[in-house]
Amino acid sequence: MNLSGWRPGPVVVLSLAAVASLAACDTKRNTTGGGGGGTATASGTGTGGEPATGTFHVGHYASLTGSEATFGQSTDQGIRLAIKERNAAIDAGTVKGRKIKLTTHDDAGKPQDAGNAVTRLITQDKVNALLGEVASGLSMVGGQIAQQYTVPMISPSSTNPQVTQIGDMVFRVCFLDDFQGKVMARFAREELKAQKAAVLYDQGQPYSKGLADYAEKAFKEMGGTIVSRQAYASSDPDVSAQLSSIKQASPDVIFLPGYYTQAANIMRQARKLGITVAFVGGDGWDSDKLEEIGGEAVQGSYYSNHYSPEEETPEVKNFVSKYKAEFGATPDGLAALGYDAAILLFDAVDRTPSLGGKDLAATIAATKDFVGVTGKISIDPNRDASKSAVVVKVDNGRRVPVKRYEP
Ligand code: PHE
Repeated sequence: MNLSGWRPGPVVVLSLAAVASLAACDTKRNTTGGGGGGTATASGTGTGGEPATGTFHVGHYASLTGSEATFGQSTDQGIRLAIKERNAAIDAGTVKGRKIKLTTHDDAGKPQDAGNAVTRLITQDKVNALLGEVASGLSMVGGQIAQQYTVPMISPSSTNPQVTQIGDMVFRVCFLDDFQGKVMARFAREELKAQKAAVLYDQGQPYSKGLADYAEKAFKEMGGTIVSRQAYASSDPDVSAQLSSIKQASPDVIFLPGYYTQAANIMRQARKLGITVAFVGGDGWDSDKLEEIGGEAVQGSYYSNHYSPEEETPEVKNFVSKYKAEFGATPDGLAALGYDAAILLFDAVDRTPSLGGKDLAATIAATKDFVGVTGKISIDPNRDASKSAVVVKVDNGRRVPVKRYEP
């Protein structure tokens, strides 16, 4: 999907009653007392009464532009599909509960913009909860602010362990990088039979550095040797020096735990330098742009991911067909995780005793065996989810599932 093809979904039209009740609660709210504290109606469903009505306001902060633009665009589309389905079901009378309103702000993939977006969502837009970010480094910035204002935040896809360590307001619905690093290492050792590996990571991204460390540690524990460890800065697209030292060390495989734009450019440079061995990446490669940018150079590479659109489960098949009908594209992992984060949040909205940040966070924390597109999600005491990973092969527009790993 290209940027010009992306457009925000339709604006959700609020009923007059909902607008009036939102306006009423806004006047009662102060800026430090927890953006999640304002309720559209007096109480939730937790007291056993009628399901709550009114509107629940979700804030999404995302990289709709910048070098990771497909992350934010796909996630936003997944969220919009979830909202469209829920609001339609409420209109049809098949589901009772609050309708959802969404406000999305672009953070361009930059920490400062992410901080500004989250502050604005909480203090000006007065959202009840946050979804975002994809990139771990940005979720760390946004999570601090969510915690400070007592507004629950669910990251659909940030995998660095530190993200949810921020505090009791911050959740995720995906696996973590200690697990993902092991998956990459096991795949390289057991399936590719690699003995020697090189590692090349983005020193400016907590995700990339962390995943490099975890993959390296696991590979060594499995009896492999790391023959070269190199870093790059995303501001400097020329990695020929790093690739030359890697080539000299003659690894059997190269771990490349970066985001798709840089990963694709690096693989192109590597093939030009005559490096022919397989690259193994992490979920950060998950974008159609990987192949658009990388072309031939990325074919036959592998990366670990949260899902493959080719998997045969009823949840995946159903999601892929609905998403295709809505957006005319095959959903990537970000779209699936955005959808899952949203429906898990709505499930908590239906169960929470109030929309106050603490009540809502406690209700999210109590989520068990929730069936999502990307697998079953149980929120653990660290506010993380333990889920399986799938290694996929990049094959001319397809993401062929090769091997699934259980935690
Ligand atoms: N896990 C990555 C991070 O933490 C983000 C990501 C998730 C990218 C899924 C692509 C797919 O930064």
